[in-house]
Amino acid sequence: MAEPKPFYITTPIYYVNDAPHIGHAYTTLACDVLARFKRLDGYKVKFLTGTDEHGQKVEKAAADAGVPPQEFVDKVSANFRHLAEVMGFTNTDFIRTTDPDHNKAVEELWRVLKEKDEIYLGNYAGWYSVRDEAFYGEGELTDGEGGKKLAPTGAEVEWVEEPSYFFRLSNWRERLLEHYEKHPDFVQPQSRMNEVKSFVKGEGEGALRDLSVSRTSFKWGVPVPDDPDHVMYVWIDALTNYLTATGYPDMEGAEFKAFWPADLHMVGKDILRFHTVYWPAFLMAAGIEVPKRVFAHGWWTNEGEKISKSIGNVIDPFELIETYSLDPVRFFLLREVPFGKDGDFSHGALIGRMNSELANDLGNLAQRALSMIHKNCDAKMPEHGEFTDADNNLLDTAANLITMLRAEMDNQAFHDALEAIWVVIRMANKYVDDQAPWALKKTDPPRMATVLYTLAETIRHIAILLQPFMPGSMAQMLDQLAVPEDARDFAHLGVDHALKPGTPLPKPEGVFPRFVEEEGEERAK
Ligand code: MSP
Repeated sequence: MAEPKPFYITTPIYYVNDAPHIGHAYTTLACDVLARFKRLDGYKVKFLTGTDEHGQKVEKAAADAGVPPQEFVDKVSANFRHLAEVMGFTNTDFIRTTDPDHNKAVEELWRVLKEKDEIYLGNYAGWYSVRDEAFYGEGELTDGEGGKKLAPTGAEVEWVEEPSYFFRLSNWRERLLEHYEKHPDFVQPQSRMNEVKSFVKGEGEGALRDLSVSRTSFKWGVPVPDDPDHVMYVWIDALTNYLTATGYPDMEGAEFKAFWPADLHMVGKDILRFHTVYWPAFLMAAGIEVPKRVFAHGWWTNEGEKISKSIGNVIDPFELIETYSLDPVRFFLLREVPFGKDGDFSHGALIGRMNSELANDLGNLAQRALSMIHKNCDAKMPEHGEFTDADNNLLDTAANLITMLRAEMDNQAFHDALEAIWVVIRMANKYVDDQAPWALKKTDPPRMATVLYTLAETIRHIAILLQPFMPGSMAQMLDQLAVPEDARDFAHLGVDHALKPGTPLPKPEGVFPRFVEEEGEERAK
């Protein structure tokens, strides 16, 4: 058998100063769904997530909590591991930037850049936002209340003047633009690519400036090799995590060889510049291959309002799962909003999708078909006769779904992938109504058996394909069809692996109950 193809996908590593919220859950969920999809499609997947534990923001949060930074990050990093467990994430790696291995990797990258004269010592004088951990040019700022200056993200900036090492980013302008030209899919969606190009070209904000990559005014970071008065800028530290996880600096090791360059960095739109300008420039300068693709997704608002700690409307993923259970939450987040666009979270919309698409469309389809089989076919997979055009039409459409889904998933178009599956679910529901197997029971039992078999085979396809999105519920559905666990990957789609007539089936139970809101219920905000 051929070696499985490697696929390396990463989430941003999360700042530990905030408790896990819907934004964290969303980025990693998208990665998890793609990771599961690729695994079912025969790939060997490396899926990295973790926590970003250095920098001024975290140092400050630890001080506010009155504990030493290391103690603080040990405690809060665990919350993100917990989120991964509760969300059912199948990450293969969880990195912490305070891991000794990681420090070694960052130091090595720094040394290589220094040796190649890509880093030099100078003085920084300019604006910095601790919340964003980012430097801003004067032209990017707006005036806030009380004479304060604000970054485009709305975060306050402060004036910083200190000795600093700089990375010669300005030297990489042409090489970056060339890279974008040669790899038009490097940044997706396309609108984000345009944004990045315009930044690198210097449209609007002036020329691409060298980047300050060390700080001297605080201590919580990786010390600069041979100059410990400086700690590295948290982003050079953080971005390197993607390399650390592949065994860097050992570039001859099996892990590095198999998985670098990464196939996909999934990020939110706010951290686009770091991943598509600074990161490829660092890598090119160090002589390391650039990742294949960066996808920037949009942001969620809550019932129409921007989500913020100060407004107090942060959505807690743990509470959502408690209220609605895991799979509907996973489904909703990727179904509701075209991936890449901003979206609005509302309880009403989640309940609406749960009841119409999960309970009515998919749940009913499975429940109707399986209970009829249970009652009328002796609780065994029915024997089918000759298939009619209507049967073949449904069976072929279900079998062809995988081709379409591969393309959608490779474009991170999760919503389109789900819509394609729902087209078949709706088609199957119409087929039940048209064929009316309950009437055939009296008039033509063998035809009824063929119709029920056609439905079962269609549901098998749907359930296999939906596993990455709703793993628990689809496992239940496949159990009810008595599909063996080792026959649930994409290699088992198609007629060669069709359900075996005569197989005993367990008593069917509804997989997606309707969600009924209790009157006066206090909702998780
Ligand atoms: N630590 C950096 C990433 C370093 S990667 C080398 C960071 N961390 S973060 O915790 O602030 O953000 C993590 C992710 O959560 C980002 O991709 C961000 O876009 C996402 N979200 C935060 N709030 C969000 C929403 N309201 N909606 C959707 N995603 C958002 O940035």
